[in-house]
Amino acid sequence: MSLIERGFREKIVLVGVTVPPASEEQTERHLDELALLVDTAGADEVGRVLQRRSSPDPATYIGRGKAEELRRLSEALDADTVVFDDELSPAQSRNLEKILGRTAIDRTAVILDIFAQNARSEEGKAQVELAQLRYRLPRLRGRGTALSQQAGRIGTRGPGETKLEEDRRRLLRRVTRLEAELRQLTETRRLQRKGRRRGRLFSVSLVGYTNSGKSSLLNRLTDAGVLVEDRLFATLDPRTRRLQLPGGESVLLSDTVGFVRKLPHQLVESFRSTLEVVQESDLLVHLVDSSSPEPEVEIEAVRTVLAEIGAGDVPELLVFNKSDLTAEASRLAGRHPCSLVLSALTGDGVDGLLRAVGDRLRASLEVVELAVPYEHGEVLAALHREGEVLVETHGDEVACLRVRLDRAGAARFAAFRVGVAGR
Ligand code: GTP
Repeated sequence: MSLIERGFREKIVLVGVTVPPASEEQTERHLDELALLVDTAGADEVGRVLQRRSSPDPATYIGRGKAEELRRLSEALDADTVVFDDELSPAQSRNLEKILGRTAIDRTAVILDIFAQNARSEEGKAQVELAQLRYRLPRLRGRGTALSQQAGRIGTRGPGETKLEEDRRRLLRRVTRLEAELRQLTETRRLQRKGRRRGRLFSVSLVGYTNSGKSSLLNRLTDAGVLVEDRLFATLDPRTRRLQLPGGESVLLSDTVGFVRKLPHQLVESFRSTLEVVQESDLLVHLVDSSSPEPEVEIEAVRTVLAEIGAGDVPELLVFNKSDLTAEASRLAGRHPCSLVLSALTGDGVDGLLRAVGDRLRASLEVVELAVPYEHGEVLAALHREGEVLVETHGDEVACLRVRLDRAGAARFAAFRVGVAGR
């Protein structure tokens, strides 16, 4: 359902509105990014329109006069669709379509469209479809059959909309089905993760703004064969691989979806279960594209989404990528203490990353002394499974152990602690 074949590349006009204190330069940069998104979705930018306003127009987002200008430009350029950088309300997009005589969509619709084309796993597909449905449902009203004739257009791909009420009921049923399906998949994933935890493996997640080079780095590190493309969102489903560190330890490394500014809320909601892997990680490797015009803004955008999904407290290792392209990588690292510089392309600095990951993970371990009465045989077994038992002596009634545990483990067995060693 997500990958729709189209025989032509749509022509798109982009629209950006500058609302002070934002500057026109910022709006231009956002439109550059939107143009990349549109390209990734399989369409071409043929023109752009910018407007400066104190606030968006409630009916048409841009002013009426500007909407007329946009119509004339779209006709002259023979554009198929107009894409706004900011989210349009259902009413705004309906009003604009009436004036423009063509589809008017927003950045959210484009991002959802890209996700729909790129979802690979069963879970990813269900999540994207759910996000699309949540976006579309409030927009169904009054559009009737008009949209069904445009099926396959950018931003409208997915379930077709024909008879309004019947469709709404059908879509709602589909939403309920997908939600149930996802709950089931989430549970399966949770059990799988629990199994891994028992295997005592650290888990590291690779996060970063879209296009920062996560797939390239993962390829270099794990030979995972993850798709590498100079397109946004080449990666949609988290993939987990085992990674050997120089110290000999194994860790699990997961690649995550690319983060982006104004990530649609529906998407963050739907992808929550996929992003849980991030929340439960021991360490985040946060990759940054040093050649981007706004690396600091991208770092903040990623951190905002991390906080939104409850991963704001997971330790982060900031890594400035693409050092082969720009000296900016080192300058940025100078500004961020304890960060690293590397090139996923040449492999420069990758050894340093592996060492740093090992060091950071070891530093997160605690050595604890425990006294476990023999009647708690299950605790002894769990300690051997989850920790590294350094010393074990046996008294008449208790076993005394010195164990290296991660923080969660140390907290779980706190009741048996006799003192904290190794400090
Ligand atoms: P999403 O899937 O969109 O989240 O992207 P990603 O973070 O996985 O990025 P990806 O690895 O696909 O890389 C994006 C682009 O940057 C590709 O064209 C890579 O070839 C390029 N790239 C990645 N790392 C480097 C690097 O160290 N140096 C240079 N010059 N290019 C790089």
